[in-house]
Parts: sequence; C-alpha cells; structure tokens
Amino acid sequence: MEFFNRKKELEDLKKLLLFEPNLIYFIYGPINSGKTTLINEVIKNLDEEYVAFYIDLRAHFISKYDEFVRVLFDVSSYDSRNIKKYFKDLLIDMPHSLGGIPIPKTLLNEILDENKSEDVFNYILNVFENLKNNGKKPILIIDELQVIEDLKINGYLIYKLFNFFISLTKQRHLSHVVVLTSDSLFINKVYNEAMLQDRCKYYLVDDFDYKTTREFLIKNNFGSEEIETVWNYFGGKPIKLIDVIQEKLLGNDVEEYCKSSLIFRARQIKDELYKLKREDENLFKNVLGLFERYKHVDSFIYEELTDDVIWAVKKNILFVNIKTGELKPQGKLELLAINEVLKDFVVSELR
Ligand SMILES: Nc1ncnc2c1ncn2[C@@H]1O[C@H](COP(=O)(O)OP(=O)(O)OP(=O)(O)O)[C@@H](O)[C@H]1O
Ligand SMILES: [Mg+2]
Repeated sequence: MEFFNRKKELEDLKKLLLFEPNLIYFIYGPINSGKTTLINEVIKNLDEEYVAFYIDLRAHFISKYDEFVRVLFDVSSYDSRNIKKYFKDLLIDMPHSLGGIPIPKTLLNEILDENKSEDVFNYILNVFENLKNNGKKPILIIDELQVIEDLKINGYLIYKLFNFFISLTKQRHLSHVVVLTSDSLFINKVYNEAMLQDRCKYYLVDDFDYKTTREFLIKNNFGSEEIETVWNYFGGKPIKLIDVIQEKLLGNDVEEYCKSSLIFRARQIKDELYKLKREDENLFKNVLGLFERYKHVDSFIYEELTDDVIWAVKKNILFVNIKTGELKPQGKLELLAINEVLKDFVVSELR
C-alpha cells in the first residue's frame, strides 16, 4: 500500500533533523498507529548528506549481549587491520540508509570476545565521527527499544545505551538518535528517568484523524456510508483501514467485516478478563471498574498508574499518553470492545 499523508509529521521530523543533534527523540503512540512506516518514509526522503542507520530490535530474538551487539552491525569481510582504509572506503557510494552499522567481521568477533560494551560504543563513535568529518549527518534509529529493557550485562544494558545516546547527542552533537516504541509503560519509565531529564523530546504518532481517514478511504473508493461505518468501528487506525480496504476489494461487505472484527476483539478481551478473574479476583474487579469509566468517556486523565491500569496497558487494551496524562483505549475498536465486554459481566461482579 502506498504511503498516505502524514504531511505534518513528515514536516515536523524533517525540521527536527535539521538542527544540530542535541536531544534524543522518542517517537511513541498507540499500537499500529504507523510509527515504523512513518520513520521509514522520513528516511526515504532525507537529503543526500544524511546517513540513517535503522535498527529494528523486534525483528530479532535478543536474550543475550552478543545477540544484541550483532543486531547493531552489518558485517563485511574487510580486513580489520586496515581500519583507516576501511573507513575511507565506506564513504565511497555510501548508501543513504543502512540496516546496521558497518563493521569488518574480524573486528566484530574481537569486540564480542572482549565482551566490553564500551568497545561497541567506541567503534560506533568512530564510525560516526568519520562520517561527520566527511560532511555526512548520521542518524541512529532504534525501533522497539523496550525489547532490551530487562537485558543485563554488568548492570542493565539500557542505562549504558542511554548514556551512549546522551554522548552522541547532547555531549558530542555527533548523530541524531531516534527511538521508536509502542510500549507506553516503557515510555513512562523513560519519562521519569532522572538521567534522561531534559535530554529527550517526545513525539506522538497517533492514529489518523477523521479528515485523513476520510480522504484515505475516498481514495480507495469507499462511499460516505461505508466511511462512517469504518470510522465508527476502527477510528483512524491505519492497519485496520488497510484491512478493511482489502476486504472490500475481495468483495466482502464493509459493515459485516467491522461487526465481526468487534466480536473477535471483544472475545479476546473477555478471555483475558476470565483468565485474570481466576488468577487475581481483586485486580479483576479493579480492571472492570476501570473499564466502566469508558461507558461515559473516550479518554480521561489518570491520577496514578495503578495495577489495573498497568494490566490493561500491558494487554494492549489501553494506551497512556505520557505527555498529556491521558489514558485511552488503544483504538476505537478497543473502546467498543470494552463496552461490549462490560455488558456480559453482571454488575454484582463490581461489588
Ligand atoms: N501513512 C500510512 N500510509 C499507508 N499505510 C500506512 C501508513 N501508516 C501505517 N500504515 C500501515 O499500517 C500498518 C501498521 O503500521 P506500522 O507498523 O508502521 O505501525 P507501528 O505504529 O509501527 O506499529 P507497532 O505499534 O506495532 O510498532 C502497516 O501495515 C502500514 O503499512
Ligand atoms: Mg513499529
């Protein structure tokens, strides 16, 4: 599917990258709102002098230090004894975007044998310095950083990484650092992390608004009534819009598809709730109480991240917007599903 709109976001991010690197950018938003797609579009449209390194941590299974390190790099068979020439050669026909930081295989093996994270970071600093000295502007993009949240190598790796990001941005102004995540609890932790205070900026990529959703569907031959139906069920969640466009192309009825999606999502949430009821009756009641609030409002400002909120966010039912303190369902379908599910649990469960 062709990339659609996001004019404002593309413009905003392009502008941010024009500045000298100073802050770490965290791009966050509800699940499947189009964060990864957006950043890839940003990369595609970058000017000549930028070199973007896009590293997707979710695409790999990472349980150990060396697995993490390997994901960062793109190995070549170059002889590492001649690193100066290697750096020089790198600049010839340097692509505009890369999946990892280039490194000679032998050097990577040495670094892994040494097992020191400082060596990894020092090497990356060298690569970026070399790029900068030659008029290039490196950008380090890490997608789904929360994957390594709990990984330990002489202490939590994530803190070492944060220090490294601070060094790349605020201290050396060497490379832009962009981190993407759909895990709003992770973003909340980052937000409250003292070491990152005033060193980060947060950029929300939300589902499409009504106008964009309407334009997207019109472009895909949806009539007014169908558009209203889709908006009522899915809001502007890009993945859902693409899904329903495909269903229509297959000749399926749009409303029927929306209804069956809701039944399916409500079923999933109900299953989760029954499981919770068996495991922790008290928490289950609190979650129901929390869900009850969405009978009357689409979102509200939370006071505290209590266990019930954390449960619902972890299950990808609710989303926390740290910037505004808003707590809302991950999408319109979740809002409807919550209300469907509530009908099935008798009021007495709440007492
Ligand atoms: N602007 C867009 N134009 C067309 N399709 C889009 C757009 N944004 C997102 N999509 C589609 O929506 C789907 C979900 O997008 P994407 O994976 O980028 O979301 P995400 O926010 O990164 O998800 P996650 O929360 O899982 O990380 C993709 O299939 C993508 O093709
Ligand atoms: Mg993504």
